[in-house]
Amino acid sequence: MESKNTNFHAAQRNKKDEFYTQWKDIEKELSNYKEHFRGKVVYCNCDDPKASNFFRYFVEYFEDFGLKKLITTCYKSKTWDMFSQNDSEQAVQLEYNGDKDGNRILDSDEIGVFPLKGDGDFRSQECIDLLKQADIVVTNPPFSLFREYIAQLVKYGKKFIIIGNQNAITYKEVFPLIKQNKVWLGYAKGDMEFKVPEYYPPKKHRYRMDENGNKFYSLGNAKWFTNLEIEKRRKKLILYKEYTPEKYPRYENYDAIEVCPVREIPVNWGGVMGVPITFLDKHNPDQFEILGDSRYGYEGTDSPNDAYYIDGNGNKKTPFRRILIRNKNPQI
Ligand SMILES: C[S@@+](CC[C@H](N)C(=O)[O-])C[C@H]1O[C@@H](n2cnc3c(N)ncnc32)[C@H](O)[C@@H]1O
Repeated sequence: MESKNTNFHAAQRNKKDEFYTQWKDIEKELSNYKEHFRGKVVYCNCDDPKASNFFRYFVEYFEDFGLKKLITTCYKSKTWDMFSQNDSEQAVQLEYNGDKDGNRILDSDEIGVFPLKGDGDFRSQECIDLLKQADIVVTNPPFSLFREYIAQLVKYGKKFIIIGNQNAITYKEVFPLIKQNKVWLGYAKGDMEFKVPEYYPPKKHRYRMDENGNKFYSLGNAKWFTNLEIEKRRKKLILYKEYTPEKYPRYENYDAIEVCPVREIPVNWGGVMGVPITFLDKHNPDQFEILGDSRYGYEGTDSPNDAYYIDGNGNKKTPFRRILIRNKNPQI
């Protein structure tokens, strides 16, 4: 039996997981992927259809996108401490095959509802079997399980558009995928606001309650992660700065220069550069190559430490974590 302490930690962890994505954020992002959905099976595997705007969004756009099928599974915890939104109900699988009678209404006979044997955990065999049927997985998975979540998608070779914390970029399970161009960032920039359950405590900052008493937390570090081709990824970053040794210090422990902010990447530098992780929002694989990051190093270096340099006054400077990149076509 689980100890009270374990239950407490599970509850604490799960508390951070109940962030419901708003329709406007889904719409803003997914409108960029329209052509990918034609004839495809979409699976939302962390989505209670009653609470999930992903489910509602794909029902609304099913015909517009030309979807083949929409599958949704919801997670139902069996333990008291998981604060499930719908405690009394069993985990279910929903299947939607479109607005058959064309009345633009979600009729009950258009929705297939199947009880799941287990609790709807995305890692369970029955959910994996559904995953295998899917072409594209779209959701906001629990942040606390992001590593496992993305690893499972990659293992089963699935296309995906998912929300994660920006910090996930530097996870040792995620960064290699980014480096190998197997995962990249979607469009949304800036803060994203998520609806949270009623029992979430009010906060001083980044918190809002609407006129109906719905609570929202705003996150500055939520990002969309995808492996679907998007236009943004082929947009060239216009470089306008010239390299000079005075302006761009060299690291003491890497054969690379420090560049910050990203827009100051010098046009005429063909060597390695350390750039802030916000670079990934601008990364175009035709223009740049990602070699590593300052935590794990890059091939050819034996110095997997935070990069540092000595500034003009002789002080040691250790910038935040850097991504190590190279311009594929420098104008030298
Ligand atoms: C960040 S919330 C997002 C919910 C919904 N996808 C949305 O965007 O509005 C993550 C959801 O995953 C559920 N969840 C937690 N652990 C899960 C698991 N192991 N398998 C599937 N879902 C899980 C949580 O209960 C929570 O509702």
